[in-house]
Amino acid sequence: MIGLGVIGENLSLNITSKNLPISVYDKFHEKTRRFYEKVSSNLNITPTYDIEEFVKSLEKPRKILLLVPAGNPVDEVLTELIRHLDKGDIVCDCGNSFYKDTEKRQEALQRRGIIFMGVGVSGGREGAYRGLSIMVGGDKYGYLVMKEFWEEISAKVDGDACAGYVGDRGSGHFVKMVHNGILYTILQSIAEAYDIMRNGMGMDVDEVKTTFEDWLRDKLASYLLELTVEVLQKKDHELEIPLIELVSDVAEQKGTGRWTSQTALELGVPTPSIDVAVTYRTISTFREVRKTLSNNYLKTSNSKIVKIPRSFLPDLEKSFYLSMIISHAQGLHLIKKASEIYGYSIDLKKLLKLWRGGSVIRSKIIYRLIEVLERSPGIENILLDEEVYKEVLELERALRILLSHLKSTDIPTPLLDSTLNYLISMRRERLPTNIIQLLRDRFGYHGFERIDKSGKFHLE
Ligand code: 6PG
Repeated sequence: MIGLGVIGENLSLNITSKNLPISVYDKFHEKTRRFYEKVSSNLNITPTYDIEEFVKSLEKPRKILLLVPAGNPVDEVLTELIRHLDKGDIVCDCGNSFYKDTEKRQEALQRRGIIFMGVGVSGGREGAYRGLSIMVGGDKYGYLVMKEFWEEISAKVDGDACAGYVGDRGSGHFVKMVHNGILYTILQSIAEAYDIMRNGMGMDVDEVKTTFEDWLRDKLASYLLELTVEVLQKKDHELEIPLIELVSDVAEQKGTGRWTSQTALELGVPTPSIDVAVTYRTISTFREVRKTLSNNYLKTSNSKIVKIPRSFLPDLEKSFYLSMIISHAQGLHLIKKASEIYGYSIDLKKLLKLWRGGSVIRSKIIYRLIEVLERSPGIENILLDEEVYKEVLELERALRILLSHLKSTDIPTPLLDSTLNYLISMRRERLPTNIIQLLRDRFGYHGFERIDKSGKFHLE
């Protein structure tokens, strides 16, 4: 294991708990020392303090896990590491690396006979220790050599290991990136629902918590809603108020959500739910601008704060569910298209099975989606499945009712809005983009197609 940050340390503990021998290295020697102190009774652990010593301590072919931050740190470690490696050694990058970087590294290392795997892992600190969702991408042989290991350290659902081979090249990191794009939408949905209940309906934090708890009992059962209930219960002991009221609203991001949107734009797949979830985090960083505008607005506007009655709670629950279906549909659509363009040959059903356990986005919805893909394998977009679409229509009514009331309040709902817009645009046979085509031709002579004749036409 190279990298003893939160995930690296917990994954190392997971590995040692299975009695598997492990050598650990971190460029900050203090971390290695601290880790070794914690587990010193375990004879299976070899702490090392330079890369050469680390490499020498391993059996051949060496199997090395990298858990260092994405970007330059990965290249820095690799530059040092490859000097000491031999042909046939396997290096697995288990961080959140960008899939294109992974593919460049795979090519470079392959020239030296070293197998470089891009492994998406989900589960955070707890999952690293108790069992992760593991999405392995790269050389199939490299996967097979370590198959049992991945299965051993992964989460298990109904006896199945949530670890598996996703596909060639950077596919492991590609699917992890989209997984995180979906994660962004779930977090955004939770934030919007929280805002609607807390500020739109005037519920206190405890009431909001209880509502999320109710939702957990049915179709919305999910790890992230469980965590929501948990964090809403936290109190600040000095002030004796819910901790959430004291937490800054500036949300950070490390990059995977943004890369998902950038990639979707590049590959031509619409993922508006993911896009707005990323943008909203960016909006949150403009704290000063928001503060000034908010003061100016309060000074000049005479409008009273408009509330929304609690009787809309059932509509909110349905709308939340619909936004989940739509954002998963977008993410899966993106993976399917990428798999075709890049030739990754990803089996979406198998991938979803890896997300049933360990993954931070694990939920009942994942099980529903597996059923959809069993019924309609190869489907381009899950909305094309008749049963999904029937359910969506039913939920759509609730979303429209909710949104029509929310429009007269000051509660921002970018994700809910985009859910409805995506749905009604994707099912519209004829969009108003015909006028865009005419205008593009008028000023740029770009040409347009007609629906009654084939060929390319121009306005003359
Ligand atoms: C996981 C998480 C994990 C991490 C992301 C969150 O699946 O275990 O996705 O990878 O929490 O870094 O990303 P942001 O920092 O961009 O919110």
